Amino acid sequence: MSDSSDDHGLSRREVLELGRGLLVFTPVTALIGPSRAAADETPIRRTETSAVSFSVNGQPRELELDNRTSLLDAMREHLHLTGSKKGCDHGQCGACTMIVDGRRINSCLTLAVMHQGSEITTIEGLGTPQRLHPMQAAFVRHDGYQCGYCTPGQICSAVAVLDEIERGVPSHASADLTSAPELNDAELRERMSGNICRCGAYSNIIEAINKVAGGRA
Ligand code: FES
Ligand code: FES
Repeated sequence: MSDSSDDHGLSRREVLELGRGLLVFTPVTALIGPSRAAADETPIRRTETSAVSFSVNGQPRELELDNRTSLLDAMREHLHLTGSKKGCDHGQCGACTMIVDGRRINSCLTLAVMHQGSEITTIEGLGTPQRLHPMQAAFVRHDGYQCGYCTPGQICSAVAVLDEIERGVPSHASADLTSAPELNDAELRERMSGNICRCGAYSNIIEAINKVAGGRA
């Protein structure tokens, strides 16, 4: 290959060596562009926090939290109530279900600071190992779990489902929206469909809920 000169009188070898020198000595800002360099110099924003107080399992609790903290993380990481599980963190599995102001919610999808003054019940607040809530006892009696990961969410959901039916709240499975919903397997399966059990304990879970519902009737 010839070492011919270009229009500026530089030989090919000289052009290559000039390029090598540029790579070694060019400042980083010149290579990545001024806007990116300016962004990198922007100071990191201070974390915004808020004080929040609520009742958790009947006890008043006060926390100072990063505003972005989910209710699930507030319970697990700050109050060390680890019964509620983080399955998907995207509102898809129901493992994080808690009862807030009488309604079940996916606690991974709501910010803790949105619950100032709320009454929050986690699985730890339903019963104790010595004195199980009837739904907890029914899950044990009917083998409503295998690994147990989904179980706290299933039980909180099941307790809220029976209250919903008692209050006459219809579901997609309710045939008649003008009369009280029936308590049958189709209703229970529909209402519990947001709680996923990877172990497939569904039929035993429905048995357990029916047992508690029968006890109430
Ligand atoms: Fe909240 Fe899955 S962890 S729905
Ligand atoms: Fe294992 Fe439900 S018992 S996921």
